[in-house]
Amino acid sequence: MHKIAVIPGDGTGPEVIAEAMKVLNATSVKFGFKYESVKFDFGGERYMRTGETLPDSSIQELRGFDAILLGAIGHPDVAPGILEKGILLKARFELDQYINLRPVRLYPGVETPLKNKGPNEIDYCVIRENTGDQYTGVGGVTMKGTPHEVAIQTAVYNRHQVDRCLKYAFEYTRKYGKKTRGKGEYNTLALVGKTNVLTYLYDLWNRAFHEMGQKEYPDIRREYYHVDATCMWMVKNPEWFDVLVTGNMFGDIITDLGAITQGGMGLAAGGNINPEGVSMFEPIGGSAPKYTGKGVINPLAAICAVAMMLETLGEQTAAVAIEESVKFVTANKLKSMDAGRMGYSTTEVGDLVAQCVTDRK
Ligand code: IPM
Ligand code: MN
Repeated sequence: MHKIAVIPGDGTGPEVIAEAMKVLNATSVKFGFKYESVKFDFGGERYMRTGETLPDSSIQELRGFDAILLGAIGHPDVAPGILEKGILLKARFELDQYINLRPVRLYPGVETPLKNKGPNEIDYCVIRENTGDQYTGVGGVTMKGTPHEVAIQTAVYNRHQVDRCLKYAFEYTRKYGKKTRGKGEYNTLALVGKTNVLTYLYDLWNRAFHEMGQKEYPDIRREYYHVDATCMWMVKNPEWFDVLVTGNMFGDIITDLGAITQGGMGLAAGGNINPEGVSMFEPIGGSAPKYTGKGVINPLAAICAVAMMLETLGEQTAAVAIEESVKFVTANKLKSMDAGRMGYSTTEVGDLVAQCVTDRK
């Protein structure tokens, strides 16, 4: 029995989560695994009502689950930072979800802004460290509001954080790299950094990367790219990439670029993973307030988040079934991946995927 905590959240979060749960349910019936789900109402509405974001007692409660499924956090009437820090980042930090796993895969039938690139070229994964860097909140401000205002927000990493992230990345590459999937000559892990300017921070990453690779993962080919160059190659030669690993801030930025190359936020899913604890899965698109309640938002990212969740819960066959069903729907059904242009409503897209899972041989 898998115990799943569900946080639908703000804006279109509840709409896409409803479809994700529909598909989860169809999948559990089809493949005979059991789950139970408990809903939590963290988000902008609750914050405005009670002043609470994600209380410590709830963190404790969340530790008792096998996984968390999150819709979206972000409310137009709440100042930026409050919900993000109070809910999303708090969950990531407190539950020590130190990996942010973000596959960049173009599905068949999905339009990409990249010229002459298709599903064979856009097929890699970014492993973003999820607890350090500028996200730790180390820093401060002084003389605020004066012409002399000073603001400091420091990128912080320790060797332990770097090593555990790299270990996950090497293991992931061994298991899911392109060669393993029959798509290349070797499995490659590339470190994305900025060793030419961040000569302390990415020097640490770089040394740790090569030391670990040499000693423990001689079967995995190692590459290094500066983050600015990575942005160019993600557009010009995405087929070069297999698995990328990087710090929190660079990872945040390059995965939005990755998401748009795979057809946009309607399709991009991510996992906040604690390999030894409770992981949280989410569509990475945000709460999209202007589409709320219209039934036009694309639920496929949330549905793909369920596939990622099932993979980490050990339900591989079920995870593959969802992914293949999503591919069938993008290839044969949807007119566009964009909100309002799919040719189907949000619930109809959920129905299509659920039906496809049910009908699978
Ligand atoms: C993401 C988001 C978050 C981040 C925000 C909402 C705090 O952009 O998950 O990529 O910066 O990590
Ligand atoms: Mn982001």
